[in-house]
Amino acid sequence: LRLERHPLGRGGPTLRAWDAADGYALEHLEGDVAYAAGTRVLVANDAFGALTIGILAGRPRRALPPLTTWLDSHLDEVGLRANLARNGLAETDLEVVHATDSPGGMFDAVVLKVTRDLATIEDQLHRLRPNISAETVVLGAGMVKHVHTSTLELFERIIGPTTTSLARRKARLVHATVDPQRDPGPSPFPVRFITDDGLTVVSHAGVFSSRRLDHGTRVLLDALAADDAMPPGAHVVDLGCGNGVVGVTIAGWRPDVTVTFVDDSHAAVASSRATWAVNHADRPSTFLVGDCLDPVADASADAVIVNPPFHAQAAMTRDVALQMIADARRALRPDGQLVVVGNRHLNHHTTMRRAFGNVAVIHSTPKFVVLRSVVPN
Ligand SMILES: C[S@@+](CC[C@H](N)C(=O)[O-])C[C@H]1O[C@@H](n2cnc3c(N)ncnc32)[C@H](O)[C@@H]1O
Repeated sequence: LRLERHPLGRGGPTLRAWDAADGYALEHLEGDVAYAAGTRVLVANDAFGALTIGILAGRPRRALPPLTTWLDSHLDEVGLRANLARNGLAETDLEVVHATDSPGGMFDAVVLKVTRDLATIEDQLHRLRPNISAETVVLGAGMVKHVHTSTLELFERIIGPTTTSLARRKARLVHATVDPQRDPGPSPFPVRFITDDGLTVVSHAGVFSSRRLDHGTRVLLDALAADDAMPPGAHVVDLGCGNGVVGVTIAGWRPDVTVTFVDDSHAAVASSRATWAVNHADRPSTFLVGDCLDPVADASADAVIVNPPFHAQAAMTRDVALQMIADARRALRPDGQLVVVGNRHLNHHTTMRRAFGNVAVIHSTPKFVVLRSVVPN
């Protein structure tokens, strides 16, 4: 298979688009129902498509129905579609279901990639119950560091009797037998918490800091509360919005602003939409899924506010933050401001000064700095 990461090189030029757990699962499934013609297969959490494309490539050509892949990240989807084409497969071989939608109908085989995000697995297993029967093969695949006793307990509690394979190349498989009598109840997601400002924050599974305000976000909001430099009627972009707590809080202080929420994660954007609906239902706002500020027009924003991620598809990196800073320069109007919170050691001020020609510290704590750059008029 020819598999590449997307965007190429983000997170490091030598990173691969698959891991040993993908290989282990594909080998295990050989000769199984997942590779047979006419069966319905669901793959979940498959960054860049190694499992999806591996199974598709092993099935009879143009086997119907299409394989269903359940994913959250916009970039993962773009990467998966590009890898599909690289391997001579057609878009019609695939049905993509986004994280906040539920797959429809019954499945003969379900393959879940187990990542460090246990909340998403818990939510998915609950939501899959109506789509599986005693005949469905349910397989989890993950690196040993992500497959814990608590992971196995989730499969056992929600699906049925569960065993795990021997570890191979630091990867492990999880085999669950569907117990039709088991009734684990509904998914506990979305979850809610209330901020010190009295706002209700709604988070779907897998969304950043879903049960409490993140420390960095708290420092960012403290800085903005003490130093509001946005013009009347400002268009504010909450970039990497997660559950929307930043944009919704600013809108609570300033009834005159409009907010656009952007995130690479469908679950994040759906969470922001839900958080907005609880707190400001009567006000218009915009919700966009995309990479950094790709979906935001040039010179259209008065402020971009961001607590940047420090990883891209599980790889630790500053690359996404750097792209966000570059994009903000493009999306902001003259006099528009970019406000970034980050760990001191991340050195965002150097990148911001290079992109904008200026940068100021507007707040700092022993761990975090909040920086502002302004587009020269
Ligand atoms: C540190 S979290 C901040 C979330 C929220 N603003 C808060 O403060 O709680 C970073 C967010 O960036 C999002 N993200 C990661 N990569 C992205 C990308 N390439 N484009 C847009 N958003 C991205 C993540 O999904 C996550 O929601």
